[in-house]
Amino acid sequence: MSRIAYVNGAYVPHNQACIHIEDRGYQFSDGVYEVWAVRQGKMLDSEGHFRRLKRSLGELRIAMPMSVGALDVVLREIMRKNRVRNGLIYLQITRGVAPRNHAFPKDTFPSIVITAKSTNPAKADQTAKNGVAVITVPDERWARCDIKTVSLLPNILAKQAAHEKGAFEAWMVDEKGQITEGSSSNAWIITREGVLTTRNLSSDILGGITRAHVLTLAAERQLKVEERSFSLEEAQNAQEAFMTSATTLVTPITHIDGVAVGQGKPGPLASALRKDYLQTAAT
Ligand SMILES: Cc1ncc(COP(=O)(O)O)c(C=O)c1O
Repeated sequence: MSRIAYVNGAYVPHNQACIHIEDRGYQFSDGVYEVWAVRQGKMLDSEGHFRRLKRSLGELRIAMPMSVGALDVVLREIMRKNRVRNGLIYLQITRGVAPRNHAFPKDTFPSIVITAKSTNPAKADQTAKNGVAVITVPDERWARCDIKTVSLLPNILAKQAAHEKGAFEAWMVDEKGQITEGSSSNAWIITREGVLTTRNLSSDILGGITRAHVLTLAAERQLKVEERSFSLEEAQNAQEAFMTSATTLVTPITHIDGVAVGQGKPGPLASALRKDYLQTAAT
């Protein structure tokens, strides 16, 4: 079956989908994106991702090209046309096409691209069952990591470094030696004292939608939670560690820079939170 993409109002074959060379996303990374996970035909945390999309666009002063209601219809249609029951929906909105000039162009309409792809949920669940290794790298990003922009070079370099070392993800470390987040995920630990800990929201990290959902699950389980910075050393000495994102949901971490976390196996709480998430995130 050939894949279908949505590009500026039209459903087109994926292999023929294209945008103009002077699109500002291509020229300047002047745009934002969102990713929704799909499980058993349902989008996960769909409202949260729409909320963050509106916020990211607002921060860059790019207009929403269509209402959330209309976007929701297109996302579901792209899911249907690509027969995605388990997978990911990707949406990108840029400031649009204009002669190259750094300052905002006048009267330009945003460009919008939406794609969907199937993924193997059994494989993802097995990865989570096995747990994954992460490495650390210096956080070399800009000062507005709270905006989900398509400008991802430091994240790409971090992920590549992880893959070259046989690890699944890279955790980024700020100039004070504290973990900020993963290259495409939020970072969590369960400390020696049993406190579920993740970096507080600020412009240093992306406010993950999965992160927000897991915090509500933690409250339901009446876990002790702290939103604060933590160091690499604290993470390596933690009982458990895990990561969250739309693409990995809740995935336990067994090793950080080659050091086993806890028993070097997925921790019970991370595994339980993944289960809770899968049971509650469908919308
Ligand atoms: C840098 C970064 N942090 C955190 C996340 C997790 O966000 P979410 O849970 O909304 O997918 C992502 C997701 O892509 C990300 O790129």
